Amino acid sequence: MLTGIQAVAYNRCRRVNGVPFLQYPPPTRHVMLNAVVTYRHDLSPGLMILRVAPNGWAFPEFEPGQYVSLGLFGSARRTTLAEPEILAPEPEKLIWRAYSIASSPTNREFLEFYINLVPKGVLTPRLFNLGIGDRICLGSKVAGSFTLKSVPEEANLILIATGTGLAPYVSMLTSRPNAGAQRRIVLIHGVRQSRDMGYRSFLTELQDHWPSFTYAPIVSRPQLEVSPWTGATGHVQDLWNSNALEDACGFRPEPLDTHVFLCGNPEMIESMTAILAHVGFQEQTPKLRGQVHSEKYWPIKGGRQILIDS
Ligand SMILES: Cc1cc2nc3c(=O)[nH]c(=O)nc-3n(C[C@H](O)[C@H](O)[C@H](O)COP(=O)(O)OP(=O)(O)OC[C@H]3O[C@@H](n4cnc5c(N)ncnc54)[C@H](O)[C@@H]3O)c2cc1C
Ligand SMILES: NC(=O)c1ccc[n+]([C@@H]2O[C@H](COP(=O)([O-])OP(=O)(O)OC[C@H]3O[C@@H](n4cnc5c(N)ncnc54)[C@H](OP(=O)(O)O)[C@@H]3O)[C@@H](O)[C@H]2O)c1
Repeated sequence: MLTGIQAVAYNRCRRVNGVPFLQYPPPTRHVMLNAVVTYRHDLSPGLMILRVAPNGWAFPEFEPGQYVSLGLFGSARRTTLAEPEILAPEPEKLIWRAYSIASSPTNREFLEFYINLVPKGVLTPRLFNLGIGDRICLGSKVAGSFTLKSVPEEANLILIATGTGLAPYVSMLTSRPNAGAQRRIVLIHGVRQSRDMGYRSFLTELQDHWPSFTYAPIVSRPQLEVSPWTGATGHVQDLWNSNALEDACGFRPEPLDTHVFLCGNPEMIESMTAILAHVGFQEQTPKLRGQVHSEKYWPIKGGRQILIDS
């Protein structure tokens, strides 16, 4: 019977003619923790930007919008901001979750992630206890088709996110997709409070210097603001349904000229997909080319958590 670490080592080991070639002794915990935290910025309690650098190995190339796995051992400590764990995982068990890469593919030094704390969660309470210099497991494979690859160069883009669903768009925008082209790009970011508007100065600056880009944040809990919020209030659907979007970006998106990206809360994605279907937008599927691309961060009810073979 293999222990947790041995099982991971067994799955990751070299294969010779398709047959696992078990390395002995198996990689140590230190080897499994193959990356190091180089930066952490807390926007509010439970919301952070984290940079992770591979330790002595080269991370593969990726497309903006793709994701990777982050992992920690069950024995890693939880932040005190989280709820106590009722059923603790095995100390030697590696806990993996998927995270969108927020940094640019041209940055080869580190990967940046935008992460929120799920107080009852398994991994995020452990991630929120990390500090600079701490080690972490970084999956060596990238995955995901939530990218601009299949979008025609001339199509307008409406990028819609709730919370940390903003991450893939930050990566896309760092490379200024077709800055010279005629396309318009609108980013709608739904957050609870203005303090949760991650990358706000980057996005505001981008809007100031790039006339074809519109940044449209919307706050759902304005009553919690310390100083009054004068911008849009409600959910991202409210912005889509109002004339405010058309006024701000200067066009009414149509399926013929626009692709819509949806990322974050699965209920928002289902609701926006239905609203869009009503005006003729079709979902992109492996079999069908549509104009609606989506990335659900967690299963809607009883569904399966997405993971990649790290
Ligand atoms: C492709 C992909 C990319 C992702 N990228 C990011 C990212 O860039 N940033 C990020 O913060 N998360 C991202 N996630 C979510 C992430 O993988 C984890 O699910 C999340 O961090 C919670 O992990 P956990 O172990 O703490 O909670 P778990 O123990 O896995 O979750 C417990 C329950 O909390 C709920 N839940 C899960 N995630 C959230 C959430 N974000 N907000 C509210 N409730 C939630 C679900 O109902 C879940 O069953 C991504 C998920 C996918 C599938
Ligand atoms: N963000 C933080 O500062 C923070 C701090 C500590 C802990 N957390 C934890 O992190 C988790 C996620 O928080 P989050 O604020 O990042 O993400 P979130 O809960 O997904 O909320 C982001 C935005 O999406 C909105 N939303 C919720 N359901 C929606 C729907 N069906 N359609 C459209 N919009 C919808 C929210 O509005 P509503 O206001 O209506 O929910 C909010 O404006 C929670 O478990 C929370 O406890 C977050």
